[in-house]
Amino acid sequence: MKTTDQWNFIATWKMSLEGVRRASRVLGEGQSLERAVVEAVKTVEDEVAYCSVGYGGLPNRNGEVELDAAYMDGDTLKAGGVMAVRDIKNPVEVACRLSKYERNCFLAGEGAMTFARRHRFALRNMLTPEAAERFKTAKIEKDLLERQEAYDGHDTVCVIGRDAGGSMACGVSTSGLFLKHPGRVGDSPIIGSGFYADSGVGAAAATGVGEDIMRGCLSYAVVGRMACGCPVQEACENVLADHTAKLRRIGRSCGSMSVIAMDREGRVGAATNLELFPFAVGNMAGECHTVAAKQTDGRIEIFEPDEEEWKKYEVD
Ligand code: GLY
Repeated sequence: MKTTDQWNFIATWKMSLEGVRRASRVLGEGQSLERAVVEAVKTVEDEVAYCSVGYGGLPNRNGEVELDAAYMDGDTLKAGGVMAVRDIKNPVEVACRLSKYERNCFLAGEGAMTFARRHRFALRNMLTPEAAERFKTAKIEKDLLERQEAYDGHDTVCVIGRDAGGSMACGVSTSGLFLKHPGRVGDSPIIGSGFYADSGVGAAAATGVGEDIMRGCLSYAVVGRMACGCPVQEACENVLADHTAKLRRIGRSCGSMSVIAMDREGRVGAATNLELFPFAVGNMAGECHTVAAKQTDGRIEIFEPDEEEWKKYEVD
């Protein structure tokens, strides 16, 4: 039963704070949760200062900005995604439109771009002079391609929202790994790995190294634990700890991974294997702010960093 009169948002990284504020305004104006979540993601996609999402995103090893995005409606379980698309101004808009279809709702590369053009989504050259310069000055090891490796250091915007009627939705967008292989797809547009929303249970989304996140289908794993009665914060921590432990046990290296989640009552949780993982939260009272998850010796603490702590943190 949907019982609440509150709405809530949680979103990854400091860069999403303005998007959460925008989403709050959109819901406050009486628009839909879908519009609010999409607008929140678009706010980050459009901001040139954030170098790992949308406009000015991280180039692949051909020097092109190739983007992934997805959207999921927690009431209907309908989801859509675009993978490895170029020159689309707001990939999340296209993903959201695709989520309306029963079939053909996840499209990659040329097929996704043809769909976007046919439906007249805004186009834009997403490679900014700054992103081109970043590519030019990057040290590309000669055998990077043969080893199928890429460089770390990227962030995904993930926004989870819940409206006053208890409906939940999730939107994500990223340029993925810097200098990735053209056509490489990470966790972000993969349902269950990068995102999952079920209004009857809760929603979760992930950011970090896509290949490692996909190995544990982390977003669905978190929602699955909540479905079994696990509180949201515990679900995030347990899923991440178990997956990290498993990767180590089988001798795999483990890249950065962070998850955010919200239960069907609007309570939020987060976990990370980073020292500090900031995220934004917002609610109906208009309180939108950034908090952080800190990981020390496997224990997660959620806290509000002071100015000095924020100063040490330079990532978006
Ligand atoms: N998590 C984003 C990516 O790996 O592409």
